[in-house]
Order: sequence, then C-alpha cells, then structure tokens
Amino acid sequence: MLNRAGAARGKLLTARAMTTLTIRRPDDWHLHLRDGAMLKAVLPETARHFARAIIMPNLVPPVVTGDDAAAYRGRILEALPEGAAFEPLMTLYLTEKTDPEDVARAHAGGLIRAVKLYPAGATTNSASGVRDFDRIRPVLERMAEIGLPLCVHGEVTDAEVDIFDREKVFIDRVLEPLRERTPGLRVVMEHITTRDGVEYVRAGGPDIGATITTHHLVINRNHILAGGIRPHYYCLPVAKREIHRLALRAAATSGEDSFFLGTDSAPHVDAAKETACGCAGCFTATNTLSILAEVFEQDEALGTLEAFASLNGPAFYGLSPNDETITLSRGAPVDYPERIETGDGPVTVFDPGFPLHWRVTD
Ligand code: DOR
Ligand code: ZN
Repeated sequence: MLNRAGAARGKLLTARAMTTLTIRRPDDWHLHLRDGAMLKAVLPETARHFARAIIMPNLVPPVVTGDDAAAYRGRILEALPEGAAFEPLMTLYLTEKTDPEDVARAHAGGLIRAVKLYPAGATTNSASGVRDFDRIRPVLERMAEIGLPLCVHGEVTDAEVDIFDREKVFIDRVLEPLRERTPGLRVVMEHITTRDGVEYVRAGGPDIGATITTHHLVINRNHILAGGIRPHYYCLPVAKREIHRLALRAAATSGEDSFFLGTDSAPHVDAAKETACGCAGCFTATNTLSILAEVFEQDEALGTLEAFASLNGPAFYGLSPNDETITLSRGAPVDYPERIETGDGPVTVFDPGFPLHWRVTD
C-alpha cells in the first residue's frame, strides 16, 4: 500500500503522463453573445467546442418577454456558421414588471431554460434590473412551481458596500431571505468569486448550484491592479483575494455536482475596455478549454474536468449530457489570437499569463 506521499507522487505521475483526454462535449452555462456584428464574430468561438450555452439576456434593450427571446434565438441561429451544431438555451431578463404567465408560457414551450436576475445597476446593461425584490415575488413563486431556475448576479449595488464585499453581503441580505421566502425555487448563483459563495452553495442542498468562470480560476485582484491597471482583467463580480481564487479552484476541480462551468465570456471592443471608464468583462470563448485543461492539470484534477464542464450543468438543468465527445491533446504551446476582429472593432482574448499546452484535436 502506498503512503500518502507515495499516493500523491503516483497521482502526479499519472497526471504528467496524460497526453490526451476525451470527455463529453461541454456546455457553457453562462455566456454573452451580444447581437449584430459582435454576435456574428463571437458565436463561432463558442460553437466550435461547446454544444449548448445559457445565453445572457442583457442586450440593449434587454430580452424581457418570450417574444423577445424567440426573436433573439432566431438571430443567434441565423448567425451560426454553416454546419455548426449549437443550441442556444435562452433566458429572460427579470424586471419588476415581468409577467409570471409570460414566463410560464415561454418555459412550457421549451423556449427558455432560466430567468436572469440582475440587481439594478450591478453590471453591464442592468439598468432595467430589480430594485425592490418584493415586486418579483409572484414571478419567483411561479418559477418555483414549474421548476424553472433563477440565475442570479449575486452582488448588492449599495454605494456604501465595498465592491470586494458585495457578493458576501448579497448572500446574507438578499439571496438567503429570497430563498427562504420561496421554497422550491431553484437558483444558480452565477460566476461566484468568493469562498463565502462556495461555502453557501455547498451547504445549500440540491436546489442551488453555482457557475464558475474560467478567468476567476486564474486571476486574483493583483492581476488587475498590481504593476499597472489591466483593463482586460476587469470583470464583474471583480476578482478577489487569492484565498478566494483558491476556494474556487478547489470547488471547480472537486467534481461536486453543485459547481459547473459558466464562462461569462463577455466581449467588449478594445475601445470600450481601454478607456477612462472601461466596461466589465473578460472574453474567454476562444481559449477557455485550453485554459481549463491547463488549470485542472496544474491541480492534478484532469479526471474531474468532465464533471465540471460537461456533466454537472446538464444535471442541474434537468437535461441529458451531450452524446458526442471532444478530445484534448497535450503538446507544444497552443497559439491563439491575441484579439479577434469583429465588425464593431477588435476584442482582446483573455491572456491567462501562462502557456497553454492542451488543444481540442477532435
Ligand atoms: O464582467 C461582466 N461582464 N460581468 C457581468 O455581469 C456582465 C458582463 C457583460 O455583459 O459585459
Ligand atoms: Zn455575465
């Protein structure tokens, strides 16, 4: 029998020796595709590797009604490259005026898979979001009845709350009371960025899950601020201290069913990032799978990448995992573009800051 050190060495050897990895085709449970020229440019970056994605509704104007979602879905399908098999899973943007019956109809027809809650002012295009959480009770109750998940941007927006504390304060002040008032409501805490978020979700039972982004597994707040300000690492919720990044890494690589991939790949043209008041968002669609494989390998956890990227998300959403597979191969450092061109201008691809060795080969 191996002692602990021996077992750890064995694990390392196995991980080192691995040069290919075949997993079910992954899905992205949180994605921004935008519209028009930007949609056309970024959609192929996701459709290349992912089978499905939960599509964020924060367009201008937002995707509020079932009719809006049907029209947006049509535009996405239209923008798909020839022969691409990709299914957009649509969401509605929750406002204080959202009609519970419209939501129920869109769900019953299979058009939408979730409703997205943005606290007003929390992030990009969230001005139509929710200010008074009592006003959305009827919609939430209807969603609990029909089993439709609520995706939550979990940050308070009060000016007096420090931006690094906004997730934790949201859990205590908004999310926990809201879940207590609405038993049976299924909730996805989107893009968690703190150990508090990890612990809350872990303790929350089967009705709560969390997405974790690729970039929050890689950067902490120093990457944004130390040695010069780096706008392409600025996103919301903003990356926190290292202890939080490590808690996210542990959660993502644990294989636990509550945690699944939602890249939050959020393209903004460089002109909107590299400016005095830059937009929040990291564009990771292009190299996400190479980064994830590298990260899971670093943590000797390649064996749980499939759970995180391909199995836990569909299970939470009550869908089957994809039948097809993809194969990742380890080799010489992967070349990926620094930026992609869009009809609206260039968009910088997220730079993890270390070489990537895994590429999707099949
Ligand atoms: O960084 C972010 N970008 N966080 C969000 O919540 C929204 C997103 C966007 O739409 O750009
Ligand atoms: Zn997002």
